[in-house]
Amino acid sequence: MYQLKSLFIFLAAILAGVGVLAQSDTEKDVASRVDSLMNRMTLEEKIGQLNQLTGDGEVTGPVTLNQDYQQQIREGMVGSMLNVNGAEYTRKIQRIAVEESRLGIPLIFGYDVIHGYKTIFPVPLGESASWDLEAIEKAARIAAEEATAAGQHWTFAPMMDISRDARWGRVMEGAGEDPYYGSKVARARIRGFQGEDFSKDNTMLACAKHYVAYGAPRGGRDYNTVDMSMRRLHETYLPPFKAAVDEGVATFMSSFNELNGVPLTGSRELVRGLVKDQWGFDGFIVSDWGSIQEMIPHGVAADKYEAGDLAMNAGIDMDMEGKVYQQELKNLLEDGRITDVHINEAVRRILTKKFELGLFEDPYKYCDQEREERELLSDDNRAFARESARKSMVLLKNGDVLPLSKDLEDIALIGPLVQADDEYIGTWSARGEGRHVINVMEGFRNKLGDETNLSYAQGASFTGQSKEGFAEALETARQADAVVAVVGESAMMSGEALSRMDIGLPGVQKELVMELTKLDKPLVVILMNGRPLAIPEVDKKAPAILEAWLPGTEGGNAIADVVFGDYNPSGKLTASFPYSVGQVPVQYEHKNTGRPKVEDQRYTSKYIDGPNKPLYPFGYGLSYTTFEYAEPRLSQKEIGFDETLEVSVKVQNTGELAGEEVVQLYVRDMVGSVTRPVKELKGFEKIRLEAGQEKEVVFELEAEDLAFYTKDMEYKAEPGYFKVFTGSSSEDVQEGEFTLKR
Ligand code: GLC
Repeated sequence: MYQLKSLFIFLAAILAGVGVLAQSDTEKDVASRVDSLMNRMTLEEKIGQLNQLTGDGEVTGPVTLNQDYQQQIREGMVGSMLNVNGAEYTRKIQRIAVEESRLGIPLIFGYDVIHGYKTIFPVPLGESASWDLEAIEKAARIAAEEATAAGQHWTFAPMMDISRDARWGRVMEGAGEDPYYGSKVARARIRGFQGEDFSKDNTMLACAKHYVAYGAPRGGRDYNTVDMSMRRLHETYLPPFKAAVDEGVATFMSSFNELNGVPLTGSRELVRGLVKDQWGFDGFIVSDWGSIQEMIPHGVAADKYEAGDLAMNAGIDMDMEGKVYQQELKNLLEDGRITDVHINEAVRRILTKKFELGLFEDPYKYCDQEREERELLSDDNRAFARESARKSMVLLKNGDVLPLSKDLEDIALIGPLVQADDEYIGTWSARGEGRHVINVMEGFRNKLGDETNLSYAQGASFTGQSKEGFAEALETARQADAVVAVVGESAMMSGEALSRMDIGLPGVQKELVMELTKLDKPLVVILMNGRPLAIPEVDKKAPAILEAWLPGTEGGNAIADVVFGDYNPSGKLTASFPYSVGQVPVQYEHKNTGRPKVEDQRYTSKYIDGPNKPLYPFGYGLSYTTFEYAEPRLSQKEIGFDETLEVSVKVQNTGELAGEEVVQLYVRDMVGSVTRPVKELKGFEKIRLEAGQEKEVVFELEAEDLAFYTKDMEYKAEPGYFKVFTGSSSEDVQEGEFTLKR
């Protein structure tokens, strides 16, 4: 074992050496500055750089508030702080590190800037439904402008966990169920946060989290066990993280979960082996909150000593709020369980980012109160939050109700979310505040002025079983020309540690909506939620349903823009909405099985009490206009491994209004050395068409687009017969076929 370890160390040194040869002048400059600083550091000071503590700004994990963290900073025992906010406060804490510790090494401040800092954007799952990568990047850019003005160097985002389980509360933080699209969104968000140059004072480090497969816990219950094949891991859960490395993400965060018996925070194979050695990731990796010491309850470490051993050998560079490295690394080094090669590698990675951020030139460059005043919640930022929210909304159903006329005299607004400001910004809303939210009542008033009478009744609470409010709500609705029900989840029903076993409308909100449908009035149901919801009864009875997600600071204005037709909804779902929680996990990219469902045939794969298909599929979303798709045209019937297939599809706006459409391309490998999904997303393009206008969208496919992990786990395409599908959702498609020849 020892020989293996020394060989490993030798190889690591070679790799490091090779790395130096490939460096630019700037990188060499930083490297030499890191070296000279490290030569002056004591072992204790090196270990201090690997230690991240939470401030008392807010609590985002099990509380272990560090009363004496300022003294620890003075003693050089802390390398990073999280949850320390504001230009003034971060300046105060930074000053302790820079002016009162022996070497004056600046701290790096990290924070969860997930969907906005002060100006809050839709929850990320909602934002991803825009399929507008530029808009997604711009939202991250604005978040970075605000956060860096308030002292933040590093965001613990983007979260890029693929999830197909709407019970899991954190499905709201990602970009849905598909690895191809999730990888595109992850890259856009990283570009937005990191910009082109870390040394600027408005760019910040991003973080690929939570590595890996955190979104597939058993039972959809947060932090629960994850068990899957290596093929599934590589096909579905790893791609966004590899994409993040390719995009130049600065940091990674290991996840809480185990995978097949090994907690990720202690997985040498998947952290050091895959991310650092195989993918060549040169940033640093932080644990999740206490996830190093949580290997004790996981049952793979008897104590912090063993947990520290596992984590350091696995390649975790920084210990978030765990104090394990602080307490145990010196002992582990003295006992030979770890070497100074690992410690020095971790310190080097962290110091390199601090130098790249320019913190040694000016440790206070991000603590700019004047910029903070100017940037946060600016009119421009609010305006884009409104645009982002509009683009995220998905029209799920529409008879002839939407858009509503602005000339209506009486509109009844019913439901617990009409003016529940705090809920609009969801969880992980950083420094966002409900008091800055424009709610639906305010948004409608802004849109309609005082001519229209807007009445309101809550009708039901979020989770209560009481129907006492129904009578007032129904009477209010009866008096109106049109009814808008605003129902869904409160902020604290999705996010971390907020999994649900029932994913319907909570409480008696469904019953309230069903009562409203009996009034025979124009009725619009607006959903505000952080996860896919199972709402088959509402879908059957309500004439119009708009998915607005938890829409952020400008939610009410954005909803009014869509409801009254100033914006034609263009969003498409990035996560399937199950018909029932009993279908979960559910996704469009499913296998055919040996007995695919055949109606009325008993011995086929189906339920006897409901459909196989979700209520609303991946890629689904309506418009106020209609689009007609021609059959896809393929440039060839067959292609070689070195050729490019063109798939062209004409799309026409056959309605009366201009609109945007997300044209999607899927592929199916009909026969493989292993079973292959019935569809896989391989391309999309969001286009805008004036009424009557037609456009031709051209996709290109090559052999590498058809690659997968074969029976022997080789990543490559196999020759054979393929189908292509083009259309407006994963279900509404037309097909073509081609052969990939040897
Ligand atoms: C939390 C979350 C993680 C977050 C971190 C710091 O437990 O799992 O996403 O970035 O702690 O708040």
